[in-house]
Amino acid sequence: MTSTQDQSVSDAVTAGAHATEIARSGASNLRGPAAGGADPQRVATVVGAALEGIRSAIRDHQVTYEEFDAFKQWLIAVSDTGEWPLFLDVYLEFEVEKVAAATQQGSVGTILGPFWLDGQVRLDSPATLPMRDDEPGTPMILAGQVTATDGTPLAGATVDIWHTDADGWYSGFAAAPPAGNLRGVVRCDDEGRFEIHTRKPAPYTIPLDGPTGQMTQAAGWSPWRPAHLHLLVAAPGHRTLTSQLFFTGDPYLGHDVASADKPELTLDPQPTGNGDEVRSDRDFVLEPESGDAAERSSTIGRD
Ligand code: BEZ
Ligand code: FE
Repeated sequence: MTSTQDQSVSDAVTAGAHATEIARSGASNLRGPAAGGADPQRVATVVGAALEGIRSAIRDHQVTYEEFDAFKQWLIAVSDTGEWPLFLDVYLEFEVEKVAAATQQGSVGTILGPFWLDGQVRLDSPATLPMRDDEPGTPMILAGQVTATDGTPLAGATVDIWHTDADGWYSGFAAAPPAGNLRGVVRCDDEGRFEIHTRKPAPYTIPLDGPTGQMTQAAGWSPWRPAHLHLLVAAPGHRTLTSQLFFTGDPYLGHDVASADKPELTLDPQPTGNGDEVRSDRDFVLEPESGDAAERSSTIGRD
């Protein structure tokens, strides 16, 4: 989100609390049920490796008690502001996504992030996302087709799309945009085709008034994300694709604080000749799913 002081001050805590509530209620259901009854050997291996990484940082860099106490206070602040989903999605989710992607087929995906909201308006393609009468920004069309890995068009596919407004704010997490602004679940036609009319989003910073943004700035790292569209592309019997689309020429490409941008995910929108409207075409390929996963996906992105 942009760094307008007044808005971001209330937003770090509001957005954090909301993102925590969503994470608690299981946004991860998108990718399967929460792990339960974990294998002790796995816990010992993974948690042990993570703790050893921190212990070796302490040893290698001769961490002092003052720094250890500051770390404790920072962790408490992450909890108090509800920023665990933000922190984890900025600094760790991209590695988990890389692990998952190594065994996946179909279109390239990337991280979900903390700002997805369930239950948004459902629209038939061609669709215009909900927006204010005077919604700022460049009018933009995203169009394409959803197919299976064997090329079969996927009738009944849905494209759940959400993104910031032209000032870098997400509806549901910031004060300015009304609920549901620039969010929607678009039903493709019988050939899996979709056409979505919206506004081009803007780059934004993660909230700077909370502990994640403060730590980022204390380290001298850029808090910016390049402008992007978020997408969940779903079809019965297929693995839901979680992705984002970026824009050529964005100054923050290659320097994404969340390390989520990938060259394959860059759009180059072209003028349509209708005022300042631009358009990008992008197809999505979904891989088939089987067993329990297929059962779950049949309920995602559907009425
Ligand atoms: C986002 O995509 O909006 C996002 C992802 C990770 C951390 C913060 C924001
Ligand atoms: Fe985002």
